[in-house]
Amino acid sequence: MNVPGFHTDQPDQLDQASRTGRSGGDVIRPHAEDAFAGELAALAAADDRPRPERWKLSPWAVATYLLGGVLPDGTVVTPKYIGPRRVVEVAVSTLATDRALLLLGVPGTAKTWLSEHLAAAVSGDSTLLVQGTAGTTEEAVRYGWDYARLLAHGPGREALVPGPVMRAMARGATVRVEELTRMPADVQDALITVLSEKTLPVPELGEEVQAVRGFNLVATANDRDRGVNELSGALRRRFNTVVLPLPATHADEVDIVARRVAQLGRSLDLPAVGDGTDEIRRVVTVFRELREGITADGRTRVKSPSGTLSTAEAISVVTGGLALAAHFGDGVLRAGDVAAGILGAVVRDPVADRAMWHEYLETVVRERDGWQDLYRACREVSS
Ligand SMILES: Nc1ncnc2c1ncn2[C@@H]1O[C@H](COP(=O)(O)OP(=O)(O)OP(=O)(O)O)[C@@H](O)[C@H]1O
Ligand SMILES: [Mg+2]
Repeated sequence: MNVPGFHTDQPDQLDQASRTGRSGGDVIRPHAEDAFAGELAALAAADDRPRPERWKLSPWAVATYLLGGVLPDGTVVTPKYIGPRRVVEVAVSTLATDRALLLLGVPGTAKTWLSEHLAAAVSGDSTLLVQGTAGTTEEAVRYGWDYARLLAHGPGREALVPGPVMRAMARGATVRVEELTRMPADVQDALITVLSEKTLPVPELGEEVQAVRGFNLVATANDRDRGVNELSGALRRRFNTVVLPLPATHADEVDIVARRVAQLGRSLDLPAVGDGTDEIRRVVTVFRELREGITADGRTRVKSPSGTLSTAEAISVVTGGLALAAHFGDGVLRAGDVAAGILGAVVRDPVADRAMWHEYLETVVRERDGWQDLYRACREVSS
């Protein structure tokens, strides 16, 4: 492929990727269905339960893929989502009905992550995606036109450029809509006919595209965005809403962070996190205490920062710390490697957050047994 103004040393790879729609082995972040192709194949082979039309796996196997387990042949399926089993079961079984699924929750509760893995397990393809923003147009949700063809041949099927929703309807696959409530209300409403009538009219051609069995839609929306573009009642009724909770316990959250950091670390060639678990525990403790406004022992009230301190931020702080330890330290994650990251995550408002952070450092971190190294490291970057 020769794209003017686009230089690449590996035209073959680009060509290959554009032909197959599949990424090679060297991409930074493979799609879930590629990253976990082995597990998905093993599950499909072991799965003897009934599969809804066009599903790659039975609902039971999809839930096992998401929650992890061991198959009869000994294959270990790693957990993707760590949280209540019931949440996953409701999400998966919703997709087997005619109702769409809305994953709702505060930032960093794995809404996007879960929707990607759901689509990968159910349809074998997580790439049919509409990203909701204030600028998302109706064409992005429905279809567009290839203007060169339109001018040359007039309106016709050949000139129609189907969007991800239309492609999923025609194929009987799962389509994902990210950040549904960030899209303008009239654009959201383009989904009403799709979800209730299972059809997408193309009035310009006097035609329609009807959804075939297997089609469904997973949307995500952020709790905090409520009010930006509230979901219309008409649209909300078309969804089953599943609220994703924050990790219930300290141990769950440490587990999530350790697993994701290990995965990310492998793809970035960072050292194994084995020796860093103590540091992960401390980062998670700090985040949970500040989020909940009280220390883990329930004795001291602390102020919460203005921004959210989600599990996703804890994952970034630890991954950043590992990179520091690998490239500028001795390869072992230490307090000094995570201190700057914690400060960056906590202090978003330079005045209010800085005062609250200072108070937490002096009253909690400083006084805690075995936390002197973290106290010193945080003081050093805070000053
Ligand atoms: N319960 C959980 N199980 C597994 N991974 C989790 C969990 N909670 C958070 N994560 C991890 O946190 C990261 C961020 O999650 P994700 O981006 O899906 O959050 P989100 O809910 O979509 O947030 P936002 O509202 O900001 O879009 C992912 O890497 C995910 O693996
Ligand atoms: Mg998200």
